[in-house]
Amino acid sequence: MAKKKYHLAQFLVHGPTYHSQAMWRHPETAARNFDWTQPELYQHIAKVCERGKFDMVFFADLNYISDTFQGSLDPALRYAAQAPEHDPLPLLSFMAAVTTHIGLGATLSVSHHHPFYAARLWATLDHLTKGRAAWNVVTSLNHNQANNFGEERKSSELRYERAHEFLDVCQKLWDSWDEDAVVMDREAPLFADASKVHRIDHEGKYFKSRGPLNVTRSPQNGPAILQAGTSPGGMDFAARYSDGIFAIQPRAEDAAKYFHDVKERMAKFGRAPEDCKILFGAQPIIGSSEAEALERQELHNSLVPQDGGMAILSAHLDFDLGKLDPNEDMTKREEPELQRLKTRYRKETGEGMTVAEVAKRHGQSVGLPQFVGTASSIADQMEAFMETTGGDGFMLSPIHNPGAIEDFVDLVVPELQRRGLYREDYTGTTQRDHLSQDD
Ligand SMILES: Cc1cc2nc3c(=O)[nH]c(=O)nc-3n(C[C@H](O)[C@H](O)[C@H](O)COP(=O)(O)O)c2cc1C
Repeated sequence: MAKKKYHLAQFLVHGPTYHSQAMWRHPETAARNFDWTQPELYQHIAKVCERGKFDMVFFADLNYISDTFQGSLDPALRYAAQAPEHDPLPLLSFMAAVTTHIGLGATLSVSHHHPFYAARLWATLDHLTKGRAAWNVVTSLNHNQANNFGEERKSSELRYERAHEFLDVCQKLWDSWDEDAVVMDREAPLFADASKVHRIDHEGKYFKSRGPLNVTRSPQNGPAILQAGTSPGGMDFAARYSDGIFAIQPRAEDAAKYFHDVKERMAKFGRAPEDCKILFGAQPIIGSSEAEALERQELHNSLVPQDGGMAILSAHLDFDLGKLDPNEDMTKREEPELQRLKTRYRKETGEGMTVAEVAKRHGQSVGLPQFVGTASSIADQMEAFMETTGGDGFMLSPIHNPGAIEDFVDLVVPELQRRGLYREDYTGTTQRDHLSQDD
């Protein structure tokens, strides 16, 4: 029987650091001398990942610089703890211009805008990318972000309730143009048939919108939908709407539980398990020998200061870890804010980690497991993770940029292909085509 093929995506941020806070300081990043504020870096990455037949490049996005740790902006700025972050959406067009197949995904939070704006933006991007756009629909949780939009942080229930309506309005707006609405008869003249372009007259709890959208139906009728949420509400939201999920679970056992939970939730919404692909975050550290890979891991991890990790973990929890004893076992803490990411507080063995250990790992990889070794040993580790989780694939995150991305594509992708675990080529052209390509 043919083996299940993996889906691969490349994690990016329009900023100096991704999951690795060492990235901006890493000697191999410095040696390449790309300017992270300029499109050339991202165009180069898109071409490399397309050569590797990835489903997509994917941008996370935050709209704040965090002062959650110790009430100060200093650690976030000093250590570039996912700050600054420029807007990723303009980059999708730059990347689309130099590629033909790879999907182009980015995050836009639904907590601060009106759905008409988002529906129009994403339909336009879906046109410009010829059906390769993917929207990571997140609700965001940090109080700094809410404050930047003049709001207070809302509860998870409220954020997801609003998010359901947000996406419902977007879908109605995308559907407001029938497929054959544009006639383009220059003689008649008849540009579009008004009987095939509909008002939506939406009046809900959070939004009103009359419609129709002033963007024609896009190749995928709106972008592919991605999601990243871990609460029951978040998992339901993902199970209902998304074509793909980005998940972080350091331990394969926890990843397996998450995977099966989401796939079961999909059935509730009348969806088949293969309709949504779950990609687990992973940070490959590749060497020409095991010893060299371990040296690279040590160098990389040593470049992350504990306070940098404290700053980013505090931001992601929206809880000031400066209030805790760094040496206490984080699995024992009972604060509700700390429960969301609790699968990230354990070592591979299942043993609880101290606050300082969790923070350090968060600064190194935000909890993504590090796969360390030669290309062949990394392929082994990926296989072992997939065997335990049953997962669909990986969201890869580099330790230096862009060399670590190039190394994966040039060294690990051919190894996965040799093992029959990865596609030789794309069979379709849209983002949804790639996510649903299982051979
Ligand atoms: C793997 C992962 C990636 C996320 N990426 C982003 C992001 O790029 N931007 C953002 O605003 N929130 C991001 N979030 C946060 C989610 O939007 C959400 O606010 C948060 O996870 C709380 O929801 P939950 O309780 O359902 O997990 C991410 C969450 C996870 C788990």
